[in-house]
Amino acid sequence: MDRFTAALILLSWLSFVTMNAQVPDYIQNFTLLESAVAKGAVCLDGSPPAYAYVEGYGSGSSNWIVYMEGGGWCESLMDCINRSKKYHGSSKYENDTNFVGILDSDSQLNQYFYNWNKVFIHYCDGSVYMSDIKKVDPSNNLTFRGARIYHAMMEEMLHKGMGNAHNAILSGGSAGGLSTILHCDRFRYLFPNTTRVKCISDSGFFIHGEGALANKSGPHFAHVIETHELGALLPKSCTSKRDPNLCLFPEYLIEDVSTPLFLVETAFDSFQIKYSFKPKSIQWGLCELSLEQCNSQQIRIIEEFRPIVLKTLMKLDKSCSRGVFVDSCYLHGHIARRSTWTRSPLVRNTTMEQAIADWYFDRSPFQEIDNNASPQVCPHSDP
Ligand SMILES: *[C@@H]1O[C@H](CO)[C@@H](O)[C@H](O)[C@H]1NC(C)=O
Ligand SMILES: *[C@@H]1O[C@H](CO)[C@@H](O)[C@H](O)[C@H]1NC(C)=O
Ligand SMILES: *[C@@H]1O[C@H](CO)[C@@H](O)[C@H](O)[C@H]1NC(C)=O
Ligand SMILES: *[C@@H]1O[C@H](CO)[C@@H](O)[C@H](O)[C@H]1NC(C)=O
Ligand SMILES: *[C@@H]1O[C@H](CO)[C@@H](O)[C@H](O)[C@H]1NC(C)=O
Ligand SMILES: *[C@@H]1O[C@H](CO)[C@@H](O)[C@H](O)[C@H]1NC(C)=O
Ligand SMILES: *[C@@H]1O[C@H](CO)[C@@H](O)[C@H](O)[C@H]1NC(C)=O
Repeated sequence: MDRFTAALILLSWLSFVTMNAQVPDYIQNFTLLESAVAKGAVCLDGSPPAYAYVEGYGSGSSNWIVYMEGGGWCESLMDCINRSKKYHGSSKYENDTNFVGILDSDSQLNQYFYNWNKVFIHYCDGSVYMSDIKKVDPSNNLTFRGARIYHAMMEEMLHKGMGNAHNAILSGGSAGGLSTILHCDRFRYLFPNTTRVKCISDSGFFIHGEGALANKSGPHFAHVIETHELGALLPKSCTSKRDPNLCLFPEYLIEDVSTPLFLVETAFDSFQIKYSFKPKSIQWGLCELSLEQCNSQQIRIIEEFRPIVLKTLMKLDKSCSRGVFVDSCYLHGHIARRSTWTRSPLVRNTTMEQAIADWYFDRSPFQEIDNNASPQVCPHSDP
């Protein structure tokens, strides 16, 4: 081998190594679902919806997990206009996403689901995948079509063979976790009754509560329902019994979900506390980002959230098919992060991954709430 060839080999080896260092293997490209546009299933800005998919193999080849991305919602026309110009209202701004946590393809980091067919749905409708307004707002070109996106995505996955699954999971975090609760039974009907179908909602249990909390949380969701015209689209089992404006709150929805559902939550949800629990008069500052940056007054407020979570969960019926894992982490979102999934806090000496897998595969139920009265620092770096 001459020196020129040797140099070439070295160079290509180096570029191979650096390229692999630059692009971690958990990054997956989005596919734009162009065929959905003709069905009017588009993001707020009119762009096609997007998903990322990794094919299953081996023992996972006929198992499917669908993960619905979260990212809040928009509460007014102006809010939705702003959103339509960013990642969460469009498919124009990113072309890939991370497959980590329950979506990780590394068997060391995700021992039960690593080789399943895995789907990540990009959230770009601002309505927890529920809106379906026929008319396009002519002055702003905004489209409210979250429900159509959900259906177009399911149709796409059925084309890929999801209907033949032996095992299937619908999951999601935050707004995607709320959407999981709303779409869970609908997802179940995509499969024959021989398929094991269950849903996992992560940090989607947004609490209405009472008193001061209800006074703040109530109007937020009432505005979402109004902006996206969701009144007639929410479950009739709820809207026929009470004020339809309450029917985006899981505490009023869950009892009517007949498909097995697992709730992954914390007693100290950092998003809910800032968004609808802390008094307006108290500045939150960097306490939003990490517990280490909260002062004693803020920590006292965080601690006051826990009894409300417990009380709300206790009021639910005690369905034995329901899974519950409530830790004490001060964060929002667990299962789609490498950190919280692989270095999970223990609840009754069990990791989140183990609790979910044992419940999913019918090995043992899990309904446990950590008994720590104070919030814990848990690893929550991304991915
Ligand atoms: C994602 O797209 C880029 C650019 O087209 C391509 O180089 C890369 O191989 C793709 N990644 C995966 C995981 O398919
Ligand atoms: C929309 O964005 C503008 C400019 O960033 C901002 O000033 C305004 O407060 C936003 N409106 C809403 C409702 O979020
Ligand atoms: C992906 O998006 C980034 C910006 O977000 C852009 O720089 C890059 O060219 C895009 N890659 C492809 C293959 O479209
Ligand atoms: C709305 O979309 C139409 C057709 O693409 C375009 O002609 C019009 O300028 C857009 N209006 C606004 C306000 O962006
Ligand atoms: C599944 O569906 C078939 C046909 O609809 C029905 O005969 C059967 O009893 C069902 N099995 C279970 C376990 O529900
Ligand atoms: C909640 O709002 C109602 C009606 O506006 C008010 O009467 C009540 O005092 C408020 N409760 C709290 C605890 O802020
Ligand atoms: C917790 O689980 C570990 C590993 O499964 C086990 O070794 C340990 O004895 C358990 N501790 C308690 C208190 O159950």
